Amino acid sequence: VAPLKVGIAGLGTVGAEVIRLIETQARVLAGRSGRGIRVVAVTARSKAKKRGIDLRGFDWAKDPIALATHPEVDCFVELMGGAGDPALSAVDAALGAGKSVVTANKALLAKHGLKLAKAAEKHGGALNFEAAVGAAIPVIKTLREGLAGTGVNRVYGILNGTCNYILTRMEQEGLSFAECLKDAQRLGYAEANPSFDVDGHDTAQKLAILASLAFGTKVAQSAVYVEGISSIAPEDLRAADDLGYRLKLLGVAVRTAKGIEQRVHPTMVPKSSSIAQVMGVTNAVTIDGEGIPPITLVGPGAGGAATASAVVADIADVARGIRANPFGRPIGQLRDTKKAPMERH
Ligand code: NDP
Ligand code: HSE
Repeated sequence: VAPLKVGIAGLGTVGAEVIRLIETQARVLAGRSGRGIRVVAVTARSKAKKRGIDLRGFDWAKDPIALATHPEVDCFVELMGGAGDPALSAVDAALGAGKSVVTANKALLAKHGLKLAKAAEKHGGALNFEAAVGAAIPVIKTLREGLAGTGVNRVYGILNGTCNYILTRMEQEGLSFAECLKDAQRLGYAEANPSFDVDGHDTAQKLAILASLAFGTKVAQSAVYVEGISSIAPEDLRAADDLGYRLKLLGVAVRTAKGIEQRVHPTMVPKSSSIAQVMGVTNAVTIDGEGIPPITLVGPGAGGAATASAVVADIADVARGIRANPFGRPIGQLRDTKKAPMERH
């Protein structure tokens, strides 16, 4: 069987790790996919930048669209980030050409996920995005496949590694917000524009994607109430501690009689609760399904290796010929998102 030929746009924290993982796990991947996975072409902004990976065997496409429509590429992997161009045009072009797409870009999916899923449906390619929420945690597959036959009433959790890392270090080491953010950036956890992390938008984008999968509704980032952690000071964490609480940035999506309530804000959680034990870059997502006890998934929520793990699993699905409905059901069956008033503040 011919190998799956992959093109990767974006060779930063995640892209470089994806190339490494495809190389080091080549045999395992071939065994699991029934065919080889071969990177054939790549692109980024700078061809000259030192990246610690050998790019000599790959064709360098002149831009992301050229890579997305590259005649050799079967699967276009978008790891540049950003809700607009070039990510949007490139993903759209790849899907329009009938290719499969793997992306970790929650900003793109939260804004244009429906349009892109329609293009995938029309032209027959896969649109896989496991890494977009919770990095290595298989939460998209859990909601889409694992709980396909179970109604979901609520999905919530810690969805941003940068914020949880900052809050943890501020609390445990008494460091300032700015120092902790700088370290999160150095470690490759933060977005290119870290205000997406600390102002809650990254969590809102992830929550909107989870809510769509959980409730069978159209992704609607605009329906999410958002408040971040940038104004939290060490004194706030100490005050919470004195009262027996810990501060966490939570994303919560709940089905109510009036619609879907979606919110992101710092929340005081009792120190004895399991969510309070989630520290550092770790994420945790709890799903309340109908008729079953809650399911909680916990794992590394950011970083090159953790994110590459999910990206490569998505590529392996393409190699195996698995093609899921991106948001769990045919686009025509997704309901409009009725925004419920926030009642439990
Ligand atoms: P980086 O900023 O480290 O890397 C971005 C890459 O994209 C760089 O190689 C950059 O090129 C390239 N790029 C940016 N703009 C363009 C452009 N206009 N044309 C061509 N190439 C471009 O980002 P990350 O690797 O951290 O993140 C990538 C994606 O993965 C984002 O969508 C992010 O939200 C998502 N993600 C990231 C996680 C993480 O922990 N880092 C976790 C989960 C998802 P150059 O290197 O030349 O500047
Ligand atoms: N900036 C994101 C975070 C990356 O810190 O959670 C993972 O999506």
